[in-house]
Formats: sequence, C-alpha cells, structure tokens
Amino acid sequence: MKFGVFLPNGSNGYVLSEAIKPYVPTYAHQKAIALEAEKQGLSFALPMIKFKGFGGATGYWDHCMEPFTLIGALAAVTKTLNFIPTVALLALHPAYTARILATLSNISEGRVGLNVVTGWNRNEYTQMDLWPGAAFYKERYDYAAEYLAVLEDLWTTGHCDRKSKYWNLEDCHCFPTPEHPIPIVSAGQSPAGIKFCNDHADRRFVFGHPDVLDELEQRLKSGSRANYGTYILMHLIVEETDAKAKQVGEEIIRRADTVAISNMISSAQLDTNKGGSSEKHAASLGKSMEEGNPAFSIIPVVHGSAPTVAAKLDEIAERTGADGFMFSWNDFESGIRTFGQDVLPRLNCG
Ligand SMILES: Cc1cc2nc3c(=O)[nH]c(=O)nc-3n(C[C@H](O)[C@H](O)[C@H](O)COP(=O)(O)O)c2cc1C
Repeated sequence: MKFGVFLPNGSNGYVLSEAIKPYVPTYAHQKAIALEAEKQGLSFALPMIKFKGFGGATGYWDHCMEPFTLIGALAAVTKTLNFIPTVALLALHPAYTARILATLSNISEGRVGLNVVTGWNRNEYTQMDLWPGAAFYKERYDYAAEYLAVLEDLWTTGHCDRKSKYWNLEDCHCFPTPEHPIPIVSAGQSPAGIKFCNDHADRRFVFGHPDVLDELEQRLKSGSRANYGTYILMHLIVEETDAKAKQVGEEIIRRADTVAISNMISSAQLDTNKGGSSEKHAASLGKSMEEGNPAFSIIPVVHGSAPTVAAKLDEIAERTGADGFMFSWNDFESGIRTFGQDVLPRLNCG
C-alpha cells in the first residue's frame, strides 16, 4: 500500500473555508511538506495545476505554483519521495512535455511520473486563448490519447513523425530519452475518463466518494481486474478524540467560502462531459463531509482519533483492494507528522 500527499501548491490547499487561515503557496512550504512526507515514509507527492482560481474571501486557488519547476527543486532536496507533477495538456506541446519529463527523470533518478489533466474548467484556458471550443469537453480524452501517443514515441525512440487530428509532427526530435519508466497517472472520473485510464494509464486516482468505494468493492468481488493501479483521494482530520475531529470538520463547513464554492460550481456546470467530477461538483452543496462537501473541494473526509482513522482506512483498503491512498490535510506539515507517527503504525494495510 502506497501513501502520498496531494501537494497544496494552490492557495489554501483543498479547503474553501474561512475556518482555515488562508495561505499562498511558497517553495519553503512545499519543501517542508515534501521533507516531512519523506521522513514519515510516504511514497509520493502530486502537485496540481490551476491557471485561474475561484476567488472568494479566501482567494481560493488564485495562486498556483507551476508543478514542473517545483518538482525540479523538490527532487534535488529529497532522496526517496516520488513525484507526479501535473500537465495541463492544452497549455503545453507534447514534445515540450516529453523533454521536461526526461529532464526531471534524470534529476530525480527515476522518481517521476506524470498526471495528465485534460481540462474541465473553460475559463482557465479562454484567458490564454487556448480553449479549442465547446466540443473539447467531450473530445478531451481523444485529445489526451493522441498526446500520450506522441510522448510514447518520443520517450521510446527520441523521434516522432505522427500525423493526427491535433498534431502534425515531422522528424520531431526529443533527446535525451528518459532512462527510467515514467508512469502515467490520470484522475478522470467520468466513464470516458475511466476508459482512458484503462487504455492508457498506469495509475488511476479517484475521489473516495461512497459510490466510488462501492464500485471498487463490486469490481473486487467480481474478480475483474483493471489495467491500472487504483489510488483513493481522501482528506484526513486526525485529532485527540473522535468528537474533536468531527467538530473541526463541521466548523470548516460552517465557515465555508460560499463565493469561491459558487464560482467553482458555476465553472463545473459548463462541462458537458457526463458522469464525471464536474457533475459531482454541481451536486455537492449540502453533502456531508464524508460524502464530499464543496468546502473540502469535494474530497471526502476521514476524521477521528488516530485509532479511529486507522480503522476506517483499513476498512476502505480491504473492501476496495486499492493500491494506495493520497491525502490532503488542513495543515499539511503537522497532518503528515501525525499520520506518520500515530496512524501509520496502527494500519494493517500499511
Ligand atoms: C488527484 C486529482 C488530481 C487532479 N489534478 C487536477 C489538476 O491539477 N488540474 C485540473 O484541472 N484538474 C485536476 N483534476 C481533475 C481531473 O483530472 C479531471 O479532469 C476531472 O475529474 C474531470 O474529468 P472527468 O469528467 O473525467 O471526471 C484532478 C483530479 C484528481 C482526483
């Protein structure tokens, strides 16, 4: 079982609430988190990318540090932690991405993968004149498949002559080729996103919503196996007592940044791809923290004392057969320390 951290490289991490002191991302903070994660035996860290935040009283995600440069620096100060930087496909030519990843693979001595993000939030791209039009909502996984085909050519041979709907490459060179495999990660939640994972990804990240856990349980019971490893995203609140942890979570929801939440939901409502996380965002108002409340970016919360949280994680791991968990926290540094010292030693799945 692998454990990882969803790096808070966007302002306020994954909490849209005035109950948490707002913060903007800095390298000093990301480095402290990465070093703590490595010290506590976590396996990986994944930074996201957002080109436009959702404002509100907390300025949610208005600042976002660029993942590749961030990982280049973090790889140089760590030894064992793996990194999964995110690429927003519309913003970077695949030949450029191929070269960046080959460079990061060399710097990190093979500790790097790639989180492939197709883009669900139109405003991030229209501001840069990079939005291909409304049809992209539905075409985005075809685009991603062609993008990955170019990466694959360049990483394996250093050349690509591929002609496709989106790219017309001619004797395209990309050296160095990476010396280590670069696992492809995708977090598409829709049927199209899941198919894409099955066809092209090494790892799939899912929000740990109750319906998703049920689906994973059914898959495990039926004995059918996916082509990818499954990693579950959860937000952890660990306190001295169960009651205190619940109270901390409820306070975050009580003081939710309603303007930022409404901006995020409005953006998600434009997405015409069916059955994915945009629909979950749109339906998230009023959900409990366990079901994916918008004050936690719809990430389901596991809360309680350390023994309670360990028991809940063991139960989820056993019934889903997941390969790993990725967590967010209210305060990442202290949260990772508590996880490593008080939760991890109690886990049977660890
Ligand atoms: C762990 C994780 C990381 C993600 N990182 C990003 C990101 O950095 N940028 C982004 O725009 N979307 C990100 N997403 C959103 C998904 O990649 C995906 O685009 C979204 O779920 C919409 O696709 P769907 O309709 O298939 O669900 C992330 C989702 C998860 C669960």
